Amino acid sequence: MERGLAAVVGAGTMGNGIAHVFAQFGWEVVLLDVAEDRLARARETIAANLERQVRKGVLAPEAREAALARIRTATELAAAAGAHIVVEAVPEDVALKRRLFRELDGLAPGAILASNTSSISITELAAATTRPERVVGMHFMNPVPVMKLVEVIRGLATSDETYTVVKETAEKMGKVPVEVNDSPGFVSNRVLIPMINEAIYCVYEGVATPEAVDQVMKLGMNHPMGPLALADLIGLDTVLAILEVLYKGLGDPKYRPCPLLKKYVAAGWLGRKSGRGFYTYG
Ligand SMILES: NC(=O)c1ccc[n+]([C@@H]2O[C@H](COP(=O)([O-])OP(=O)(O)OC[C@H]3O[C@@H](n4cnc5c(N)ncnc54)[C@H](O)[C@@H]3O)[C@@H](O)[C@H]2O)c1
Repeated sequence: MERGLAAVVGAGTMGNGIAHVFAQFGWEVVLLDVAEDRLARARETIAANLERQVRKGVLAPEAREAALARIRTATELAAAAGAHIVVEAVPEDVALKRRLFRELDGLAPGAILASNTSSISITELAAATTRPERVVGMHFMNPVPVMKLVEVIRGLATSDETYTVVKETAEKMGKVPVEVNDSPGFVSNRVLIPMINEAIYCVYEGVATPEAVDQVMKLGMNHPMGPLALADLIGLDTVLAILEVLYKGLGDPKYRPCPLLKKYVAAGWLGRKSGRGFYTYG
């Protein structure tokens, strides 16, 4: 697909990064959110992250301005009309996502409908539309402008053409797409999230402090970031939502979310985005 208009729905942790890379690689972008303040914050984050790329020498200063100029924001979903591709990045809630897919099916008839979901069935989201062959998972990693991987998830009915367009779109953004079939958590979160849950159990059971758990995994396993710092970066509400999809979808008690994680989320301690999780942020 030639570069055209990309609509990104949800301007949170992931949506701002997804809008950033589409705009950086020449797409016109409309970034949508129900919350005006999230859109304003997303614009600031994108500007700051583009600036960081300029400082690192990976982006020319003019390219920063051009990318910013290609992004507009909107609070009405109808602004997705005319999009060639829609990437949905709203919270990890199946009812919310299905509702959006149903609406987008009517509002953006020409578009491929992609979800950035971490764990929810692409087949189930596709079933909310009249064109399941044009629905696909396009799972970016956090932080999107930096991380190379995009898991491209085929739902039961995803066509080869849709898969190929999304794969090639990711490649043109300098990403490395990896094909994965539809299953709870796909590959990335099937493997990562149980490890994070286990790290939280270590804190819950008093085995070690968050700092100690993270230090063990960084120094002992060469992970660039400890699992609890990573959980804070992902968002603890998102980690919990993914665990619930794994637990329900695979039916195995080994995916039971740690009670401490549930308690933090109930308290509104969501990690970096709320200023407090396993660590505190300024
Ligand atoms: N956080 C991560 O590291 C990560 C990584 C990969 C994938 N994901 C997935 O990406 C998706 C988004 O996660 P996030 O961490 O960016 O969440 P987030 O909570 O940071 O942002 C979600 C945004 O969606 C907006 N929103 C809610 N309802 C909406 C609606 N009806 N229409 C438009 N916008 C709406 C919210 O206002 C918020 O700004 C989830 O499916 C998550 O599982 C997250």
